[in-house]
Amino acid sequence: MIYLDNAASTWPKPEGVIRAVTECLEEAGANPGRSGHRMAARASRILGDARRELASLFGIRDPNNILFFANATQAINQALKGFLQPGDHVVTTGWEHNAVARPLEAMRREGRIGVTVIPASPGGAVDPAEVERAIQRETRLIVATHGSNVTGAVMPVEEIGALARKRGVRFLVDAAQTAGNLPIDVETMGIDMLAFPGHKGLYGPQGTGGLYVNPEVSLSPLIQGGTGSRSEQLEHPRGRPEGFESGTPNTPGIAGLAAGVRFVRETGIQKIHRKEMHMAETLRSALSEMEGIAVYTPQGSRLPVVAFNLEGLDSLEVAAILDTHYDIAVRAGFHCAALAHRSLGTESTGAVRASFGYFNREADVDALLAALQEIRKFFH
Ligand code: ALA
Repeated sequence: MIYLDNAASTWPKPEGVIRAVTECLEEAGANPGRSGHRMAARASRILGDARRELASLFGIRDPNNILFFANATQAINQALKGFLQPGDHVVTTGWEHNAVARPLEAMRREGRIGVTVIPASPGGAVDPAEVERAIQRETRLIVATHGSNVTGAVMPVEEIGALARKRGVRFLVDAAQTAGNLPIDVETMGIDMLAFPGHKGLYGPQGTGGLYVNPEVSLSPLIQGGTGSRSEQLEHPRGRPEGFESGTPNTPGIAGLAAGVRFVRETGIQKIHRKEMHMAETLRSALSEMEGIAVYTPQGSRLPVVAFNLEGLDSLEVAAILDTHYDIAVRAGFHCAALAHRSLGTESTGAVRASFGYFNREADVDALLAALQEIRKFFH
């Protein structure tokens, strides 16, 4: 199998990730933060280590401000629903994934919030000046994806963070496609809340993800229940992280996530990025020169994602042929990103998306290009 669907989930995982999950299951399978025995304490340490690894990666001062969730979607829901109050206004972008767009739309339809969507510029990014112009008296939050999961277009997060600070508005960044792929520093980028998945660019297992929350941001927990702390009280504790992580966590998954972050830090984000971008750019430029192919990823894109269509062919059909006849895995259709496909003008067709990870090889690009040539010839 040639796996070119790393923007959905990276695969394969580094050896160290698999070892860490297995070791946790074999040797530290107790419930962290609950019982006082030594194995429970070891399980707790796994969570603490993972928070420290992530804090180092994202420039976070206090690791306890990192809250674990099952994925970036849950983290984003916690951020939006735990922060926004009735009457608030939110500024967001035309590149958002449904993880951002749908909860905002639901809250807007319920009449709880107002939302302004900043359209994408032709180059793919949003213009920070437009974001600033959209700020109203009621605006309390700007929400932006760091990078589009459809085209790989990267947003000017640092500029938006600076203007959010200047205008006293909080800033939530969806780093689903960029955590582990691009350097992120919450302090210098002015990020108040950072939602990230564990299973993409951080090379951890599925079922892991998290949210960093600036200690000055007041947030209500979405889920109440057992936290392993103040168990004698009926009132739910608000402390971080335990007040936001009710119920038994995915300790084996988080053990794997810590190992994934270690892999990224030891290998180096730049080295990973350079290798992935080389393959993505080879594919993007070769496709741009082929007849009968529309390429949507802009030149100079900074994420290893290439979106395209074979003219006259349905994107889902192309992906199915690649899978069944060529053993090549890509993702087609709408990528859970209705807004982004509207921004791109592909709202009726969707697109085929090939996305690279550190373990892909140059030969994978050649195999995909050869397969697409054959498919084109066959249908024309
Ligand atoms: N959001 C993920 C993707 O882009 C699942 O495929």
